[in-house]
Amino acid sequence: MATITINGRKITTQAGITILQAARQEGISIPTLCDHPALSAVGACRMCIVAIEGQRNLQTACTFPVTEGMQIQTESPEVVKARKFILNLTFSERNHFCPYCEMSGSCELQELGYRYGIDHWAFSTYTKSFPLDATNKYYLMDHNRCVLCERCFRACGELVANHTLGLKQRGSQSMIHADAAIPLGESSCISCGTCTQVCPTGALFYKRSAYMGRDSLTEKIKSTCGQCSIGCGIEIVIRGGNVLQIKGDWDAPVNKGLLCKMGRFEPLYDERKRVTEPLLRQEGKLEPVSWNQALETIVKKIGGTPAKEIGVLASSFSTNEALYLINKLFRDELKVSNIGLLNSAAPQIHKKPQGLLADIAQSDIILVIGADPVADQPVASFLIKRAVDKGARLIVVDDRETGLAPFAYLRVKTGDIDKAIEITKEALNPVVLYGSEMTENSAKAIKKLDDKVKFIALESGVNTRASKAFGINNGFKPSAVRLLYIAQGEQNCDGKDLLKDIPQGTFIVIQSGYLSELTEKADLVLPAAIWSERTGSLTNMEGRTQLVNSAVKPEGQTKSDWEILQMLADKLDRKIAVSTDEVSASLAKLLN
Ligand code: SF4
Ligand code: SF4
Ligand code: SF4
Ligand code: FES
Repeated sequence: MATITINGRKITTQAGITILQAARQEGISIPTLCDHPALSAVGACRMCIVAIEGQRNLQTACTFPVTEGMQIQTESPEVVKARKFILNLTFSERNHFCPYCEMSGSCELQELGYRYGIDHWAFSTYTKSFPLDATNKYYLMDHNRCVLCERCFRACGELVANHTLGLKQRGSQSMIHADAAIPLGESSCISCGTCTQVCPTGALFYKRSAYMGRDSLTEKIKSTCGQCSIGCGIEIVIRGGNVLQIKGDWDAPVNKGLLCKMGRFEPLYDERKRVTEPLLRQEGKLEPVSWNQALETIVKKIGGTPAKEIGVLASSFSTNEALYLINKLFRDELKVSNIGLLNSAAPQIHKKPQGLLADIAQSDIILVIGADPVADQPVASFLIKRAVDKGARLIVVDDRETGLAPFAYLRVKTGDIDKAIEITKEALNPVVLYGSEMTENSAKAIKKLDDKVKFIALESGVNTRASKAFGINNGFKPSAVRLLYIAQGEQNCDGKDLLKDIPQGTFIVIQSGYLSELTEKADLVLPAAIWSERTGSLTNMEGRTQLVNSAVKPEGQTKSDWEILQMLADKLDRKIAVSTDEVSASLAKLLN
């Protein structure tokens, strides 16, 4: 510990942390620009300069460590004068004409301008025009607004481990660039958007939400990404009932602010047509009907079909509450046993996976078997690549060319898994990540690894961990079915493939958020709310149950997946109460 004085206030804090961290702990605000809590400190912008007794020059609080007896002034006249000078230089370099900037109202540089009363340009300004790179589909880089804080390229390297961005040229000519100074859209950028989320100015911004409203006019709803089994925490940014952006939630335990392209951008660019009202096939055509008519039709069909001829397929996009209801209503009440999952699940190795995603950072050997997290669970791939950057050895066991292959220390085909097992045995903190493509032989082979191994199932579907816990798994038998209920949700299904073994004349009910090839083949389509509209909860591949909150009003007559099943249960006179607390408690029992 160290006792220091900041602005005359005695503080006892941990020795070795930075002055900035010590000040923040005490609620003392030191202005920053290049600093970001998720990134390493570089001392690039000099905004955080403070006076330290005994030091000849002003020092940057974000890099200077605390030592016993230190006397610090953060707002002395000398400090403020120097800070204003730096701020004036920053404003005069490039174009920081705030009223015309997308970030106006939520720009950290603009905020500092207000804080220090910068109401005019002290020096001549933006004489040189810098380029604008609009080649990435989702975000735009305007070099004219860049303050060279380096947050973007630290985020790309340290958090995403993608190392696309760097700095070229020197001094006032310096520019952020991608790879060997090529357009972003042609670079190795994977469009995770992390650089855009950390940029303090309007140099990097989302194209889709540009100029749609100042930050103060928007509302942010915390929720959980429902695009893969990682379950990243998100903030849905809305204005006037419209979703403007999806941001990573820095406080979320799973992803700590990170998101991938699938989570951050793709849901906003989804061009599939919505199902907005119940549709019943009449004279060969799907025609709108009321919810009551739709539910009565299903009740009649269920009444006229023996339980053994009823089949249920659930998408792993379903919420915990919907899966719970499918289990209670169809399995327990209606005695239907032919219930399956639309995606394949990872094989069971132990009773439960033992590892957490956070274990990846501590591992020295990472074994990935039958999974392609770069494509399917991207944020997990960021964590793996980060561990590799720090010296962990990555071993990939797969017959396919997976996205992790270029980062692997060793790649083996599934037939040679024993080679991988032998090396993994040498590790002090091994982590094994396995997916649904893992072969039975590989599953047997990894059992040879001892107790220190942390196993993590990289499930290919979103809510597969909960589906499995409720007994909704692989093994659906299509040939026995005369009435098929598909809780498709938002999943994209290949209709032909899915229905190829379903007997002709089977009555098909689909609850779906979107019209698809599959809904075209249905007899009854029930309109389901999508990720931004629905409520409920999801369980990630670690077994963590997290809330899904509705950010905007459900479109048309759509309802959350569990609400549809609840209405059906009511219509069938089966009283099944469902609440997120109850479902979470029931899942917790099944998962532990
Ligand atoms: S979007 Fe992601 S990968 Fe692309 S440059 Fe930014 S941080 Fe790097
Ligand atoms: S683009 Fe943004 S984050 Fe990157 S250096 Fe410029 S101002 Fe900083
Ligand atoms: S890794 Fe998965 S949960 Fe996280 S943002 Fe990407 S799609 Fe969403
Ligand atoms: S915040 Fe300390 S130098 Fe930029």
